[in-house]
Amino acid sequence: MKNKFLYIQTFGCQMNVHDSEQIAALLKNRGYQITDNAKLADLILLNTCSIREKAAQKAYSELGRLGKLKEQNPSLIIGVGGCLAQHLGHKLHKRMRQLDLVFGTHNIHKLPDMVTDIERRRIKLTEIAFHKTVSSIGVFAEPTVGSISAFVTIMQGCNNFCAYCVVPYLRGPETSRLAEDITEEIRRLAERGIKEVTLLGQNVNSYGRTLAGNWNFTRLLKKIAEIPGILRIRFTTSHPRDLSDELIMCFAEEDKLCKHIHLPVQSGSDKILALMNRGYQVNEYMKKIDALRDVCPSISITSDIIVGFPGETANDYQETIDMMEKIRFDSTFSFKYSERKGTAAYKLTEKVDEYEKSVRLKLLQELQNRHTQEIHNSLEGSVQQVLVEGRSRNSANDLTGRASSWKIVNFAGEPDLIGTIADVKITKAYLHSLRGKLMNSQEVGDAYRNESSRFNN
Ligand code: SAH
Ligand code: SF4
Ligand code: F3S
Repeated sequence: MKNKFLYIQTFGCQMNVHDSEQIAALLKNRGYQITDNAKLADLILLNTCSIREKAAQKAYSELGRLGKLKEQNPSLIIGVGGCLAQHLGHKLHKRMRQLDLVFGTHNIHKLPDMVTDIERRRIKLTEIAFHKTVSSIGVFAEPTVGSISAFVTIMQGCNNFCAYCVVPYLRGPETSRLAEDITEEIRRLAERGIKEVTLLGQNVNSYGRTLAGNWNFTRLLKKIAEIPGILRIRFTTSHPRDLSDELIMCFAEEDKLCKHIHLPVQSGSDKILALMNRGYQVNEYMKKIDALRDVCPSISITSDIIVGFPGETANDYQETIDMMEKIRFDSTFSFKYSERKGTAAYKLTEKVDEYEKSVRLKLLQELQNRHTQEIHNSLEGSVQQVLVEGRSRNSANDLTGRASSWKIVNFAGEPDLIGTIADVKITKAYLHSLRGKLMNSQEVGDAYRNESSRFNN
């Protein structure tokens, strides 16, 4: 088989990142190997996102840029997948005549045949039907040599219909994957050297609802924790309404579960939360945060926040700021509300002015940066368990990895530590990372003795 080159560009969330890994795995079987140089490619794929208008615009501009490569290489195949493809379907062909292929979020498994068909017949294809079971969900993406961490899809789709969000329309109804398929995949990953898995789903807390046999997310977590070779488990994303006491307890009881939760709150105003159809109030959210910190005081809590949702007054915004002051998140992803056609919020008329949204976002991000920096400063002198992922890109002598909290830690060390959990004493806090010093076994023993005597006194 002749070797051909695939250039794939990914936008959007971790689900899309993992979908791209699966796409690469499927096309490898058809002779395509990855290149990071678009000019060498025989096949260019854009895996797109449609969550906000800006995400869609980014995809259009990349498509315009990459489309020009067809002038020099007429046999080049260009395809668009992901949520924007699902959203626009064949309309994308009209928008861009260089395009050969549009495939939606449920049709990744059809991609190899579609590409082969285009290679033979030079036709234009679109496949955006939804399927009850998504065959691509279980495609095994062989981890690249030396990788330590991998994504594993445990469910797809979403039934929540938050008023602002396009995901339920573009990823389809919520469907959980069979637990035995998930554990089997993780076993295979562990055999290939993977130490950490991140379980993916739009709302992992409702895992099992579509399955027979009393499955829930906690039960799944415990099964995964039994798999030899897996040192750490992470998951994303959780819906606050469905975060159970049982799962909260896992942060105290399950050693392999990392001490980090991403729990998108979206707003600190009950009025806005109701308009968003989020299904909880601020005080209920705060209670969950308290419960998490009760069972696991060191837990790192991150969140998503939207500013300028229709009807958000200065007062509602201030409530979000007040909530942030009370909670002090480790970090947040924050966005200006972006109107999406077809969602419930699209019909709301009390729009917030774009300039006002920008001001609110800027102030909120400044506050968050202050909190993040203060939390990081408070970690100076602490010992963090860092899963070493590889060499740092910035310095040849440095290694990089993540603490259990998901914070990035850089430190000087030998590459034989890659793939192990190292004890690192934090020496300097930055906004986006921590710097530390590798501890020797004597120092580690002393540090633990100090910690436990502090705890016992
Ligand atoms: N399923 C995940 C989030 C998916 S989208 C969850 O529910 O947590 C990631 C984030 O994008 C959301 O949490 C929200 O903060 C933001 N988002 C979604 N739709 C948006 C829109 N129309 N405008 C601005 N931000 C949006
Ligand atoms: Fe969108 Fe809400 Fe579903 Fe998250 S839970 S994907 S925000 S509809
Ligand atoms: Fe974007 Fe689709 Fe993910 S809209 S955020 S790529 S689920």
